[in-house]
Amino acid sequence: MTGSDLPALRTALPGPNSRARVDELAKHECPAVTARRARRAASLGTDQDDPVVWASAVGANVEDVDGNRFVDLMAGFGVAFVGHRHPAVVAAATRQTHTLIHAMGDAWPDRSRIALLGLLAGVAPGDLSVSILGLSGSDAVDAAVKTAVLKTGRSGVLTFDGGYHGLATGVLPLQGYKSAFSEPFAGLLRDPGPRLAFGCPIADVDAALAGGDVGLILVEPVQGRGGMRPAPDGWLGDLRDAAHRHGALLCFDEIQCGMGRTGYWFACEHDNVVPDLMCIGKALAGGFPLSACIGTPEAMNGWAASTGEALHTQTFLGHPVGCAAALATIETIDDGDLIGWAKRRGDFLRTALESTGVSVRGRGLMLGIELGDSSFAVSRALLRRGWICLPAGMRGEVIGLTPPVCMTQAQMESLSVALTEAIVEVRNA
Ligand SMILES: Cc1ncc(COP(=O)(O)O)c(C=O)c1O
Repeated sequence: MTGSDLPALRTALPGPNSRARVDELAKHECPAVTARRARRAASLGTDQDDPVVWASAVGANVEDVDGNRFVDLMAGFGVAFVGHRHPAVVAAATRQTHTLIHAMGDAWPDRSRIALLGLLAGVAPGDLSVSILGLSGSDAVDAAVKTAVLKTGRSGVLTFDGGYHGLATGVLPLQGYKSAFSEPFAGLLRDPGPRLAFGCPIADVDAALAGGDVGLILVEPVQGRGGMRPAPDGWLGDLRDAAHRHGALLCFDEIQCGMGRTGYWFACEHDNVVPDLMCIGKALAGGFPLSACIGTPEAMNGWAASTGEALHTQTFLGHPVGCAAALATIETIDDGDLIGWAKRRGDFLRTALESTGVSVRGRGLMLGIELGDSSFAVSRALLRRGWICLPAGMRGEVIGLTPPVCMTQAQMESLSVALTEAIVEVRNA
């Protein structure tokens, strides 16, 4: 497996080893985590498959425990933007494990965190230059919300339909993607504040902010789970102006759309808008769990200086291996002009897909194939041909694509052939 290979399947999917491992997993994993045959069949109608169990991955390829080779059109939920197991990331993380795996978070920092925060300040737009590190996207959004509360003295958050910001309890009420995620926990969740349509008139935003309870506007410049939907041109700047008119902060959740994915370092650069806070994660550390909330000095000065016991921290804050991997990831993106590649390859992929007659939305290498009700069935038909993908959108109306930037033109051309076959198969079923 080279990373640039086309799919090659040895067994029907899932193969016997995948099935056996999923049965084993089910004995000890909370049943809500991994869907198995019976439950999939019940919830999804026709589909009765277990997932395939991954064994290894490199570049744009994944191999499962049955020796089947796939092309990962999702880069593992958008994480492997630079490619799975990028050699520079592997080398940096390996080096770091030979010197220091774990430091002491807020109490005693290490060199890798210091270097990373400096580098982040260099690549982040405008004067975004002061960070709080976390391990997950939820962590970063949590830090943004706390920052806004401290800075503005208000706890309301204005969010948008289709927005997704993680499922940890503190950020769960902020998602406008699927009410089913929040409903079972309603008793734990506060009413966060107003929610509006993504791309709504700015007059609606002004009206929602007029009460003076909202301290933060939280928005994805390109909605990911919500369906690969870019914000309308000019809207992000209007949001910033509205936030500032009403004394609130603006936070861009760039956890999925940031780090080069859309053909810009950060998706907000398409509109030339610098927020007060920006959350990043996923692709940040090339596969290691790391996230950051980066703020302007002005926004971050709402936090009082630590006097010894940090007001916000966690055991693994600034994990040295994650920081070393992030340093290598950022240098790899920069040195290899991967931003330019994301733009060019995104254009190529879009054209290849559109040549099959489908409509495609999104930006750069963050694309949604608009297939309406047949998205799920077509995504399964693609998987049966060795292409890893999932539906996105509030009604699952698109197949979401966030492939590694190293996905080759040959892979893209082959995908368009597979897509045509998959659509015909679903139509004839
Ligand atoms: C835009 C966005 N924000 C936040 C999150 C949450 O990240 P995590 O799952 O790492 O908590 C996600 C995850 O998909 C996301 O796409």
